[in-house]
Amino acid sequence: MTTHPDYWNQIYQDEGRPGWDMDRATPLVEELLGLALPLGLRPGGDLVVPGCGYGHDAAELQERGFQVTGLDFAPLAIQGAMGRYGDRVVWSQGDWFATHLGPWDAIFDHTCFVAMDPPRRPAYVAACAGHLKPGGLWMAALFHEVKGLSGPPHAIPMEDMRHLAEAHFEVLHLDHATASHPRRTGREYLLVARRR
Ligand SMILES: C[S@@+](CC[C@H](N)C(=O)[O-])C[C@H]1O[C@@H](n2cnc3c(N)ncnc32)[C@H](O)[C@@H]1O
Repeated sequence: MTTHPDYWNQIYQDEGRPGWDMDRATPLVEELLGLALPLGLRPGGDLVVPGCGYGHDAAELQERGFQVTGLDFAPLAIQGAMGRYGDRVVWSQGDWFATHLGPWDAIFDHTCFVAMDPPRRPAYVAACAGHLKPGGLWMAALFHEVKGLSGPPHAIPMEDMRHLAEAHFEVLHLDHATASHPRRTGREYLLVARRR
């Protein structure tokens, strides 16, 4: 059951380096920051990476001057992140739907939304809004194409994503990614949205 940390933890235990792990930050860090800074992302603000896995994106964002929390409910993900990057990021083993650590200025969401079972999406979007300060930004990398495979990850058409986000957010940017990892080229798009 993907809603339970054991599902994910077992993958970390069995595979060591799961198929989604790139061993470095996604190139979309650069692209999303380039979009979000002109749209009001506060340089140096506090930012959370939900479903941070081994923490590559969180560590990269910290390098770029943000105060970063990396959150994941799989214990082996958090252990792996701490082992790789130490305490320059605040690592938290917790459930995105239940954490009380925020609110944050911004969310950097890379393969967490798309890991959710589709019926959980409205609650996930509400959680994002609830974890942000008023006017906070949700940055997300999403798939419109998963090669016909059953998820996770789950694809979502761009216009469905707009509709879903608009329940709690003003959509500021929604378009294809241009800097995807080669394994994901042509299948990702980016969202930047402001909490209403
Ligand atoms: C596909 S992996 C991506 C990991 C990381 N973002 C990366 O790109 O390497 C999805 C991650 O989300 C975590 N996750 C799934 N549901 C979660 C939840 N409700 N709260 C916190 N973490 C969650 C899983 O444990 C897993 O580490």
